[in-house]
Amino acid sequence: MNNIETINKIKNDIKFFNPKTIDDIKKFKIKFLGKKNGIITLFIKKIKYIPISDRKKIGIILNKLKNEIKEKILKNYIKIKNINRNKFDITIPGKFTNIGSLHPISIIKNKIIKILYYMGFYCVDGNEIEDDWHNFTALNIPILHPSRDMQDTFFLQKNPDFLLRTHTSSVQIRYMKKNSPPFKVFSLGKVYRNETVSYNSNYMFHQVEGFYVNKNVSFCDLKETIQYMINLLFGKVKIRFRLSYFPFTEPSAEVDIFYDNKWLEIMGCGIIDPQVLKNVNIDSNLYTGFAFGLGIERLTMIIYNIKDIRIFFKNDIRFLSQFKNEF
Ligand code: PHE
Repeated sequence: MNNIETINKIKNDIKFFNPKTIDDIKKFKIKFLGKKNGIITLFIKKIKYIPISDRKKIGIILNKLKNEIKEKILKNYIKIKNINRNKFDITIPGKFTNIGSLHPISIIKNKIIKILYYMGFYCVDGNEIEDDWHNFTALNIPILHPSRDMQDTFFLQKNPDFLLRTHTSSVQIRYMKKNSPPFKVFSLGKVYRNETVSYNSNYMFHQVEGFYVNKNVSFCDLKETIQYMINLLFGKVKIRFRLSYFPFTEPSAEVDIFYDNKWLEIMGCGIIDPQVLKNVNIDSNLYTGFAFGLGIERLTMIIYNIKDIRIFFKNDIRFLSQFKNEF
């Protein structure tokens, strides 16, 4: 094939180039412009053997062909990409993906939040790393007082004034320090205790704590509120108040519910000790309040009949996937 024939053949190939896939374009590119054996590439390399009289003319033609090829490649590339894009049909249902489920603790947590909102409580946040004053002293639990033994604590080694909060009651102090009554709020979150891990205790668990401060708040208000809340959670169940002791409430009580044919303890509560109100500069002659606190793990174990608290934190899919219907 002489030079003119080769050029005509290339022109023809360019003209009738009609790729269907990106792969066709790649092959076309390699065929003509491939670094080693591309037809145009080799042609240009051989140009020095062409008689001087034709050399310039052929050089210009080859450059033109090279540009045409590049242009063809680009145009077709865009065309094929667009075709592929248009093939995407948004009306076709997507592939089925296996969605997960809420953790049982989250399910019960959400339920309680909904109930408390419904009852007019406002949600507030506290700190998981607390100082001694908010977690203990302001709540009437002085240093060296034996009542500290009720909650074995993780202190920060470098600064033992800081600790992982042992209960959400510290949020009462944080909130009351900054706000003046009346208020009706709750807080919910993780608390930590230096407990031996067993089927019914863990070093970390969740608590929800509600408190209400106003003029003339009485134990009757507390009983009413708790009865109402429990009925929304468990339906109609019997409850009883058992006298108890917490340093920050007076009187204090433990609440039991009659469930599954037995009495089960589910929360602590009481009238906020006037000394606690004084600690946060609230006039305890004018205001009284109540507080209650309950463990979410315990509640979840009762509701779902779960016998071992450790299962909540094992991330075992066989356990967790059983709560799909609740999602
Ligand atoms: N903070 C108490 C506990 O963790 C629970 C409680 C809260 C008791 C509010 C009374 C009032 O054991």
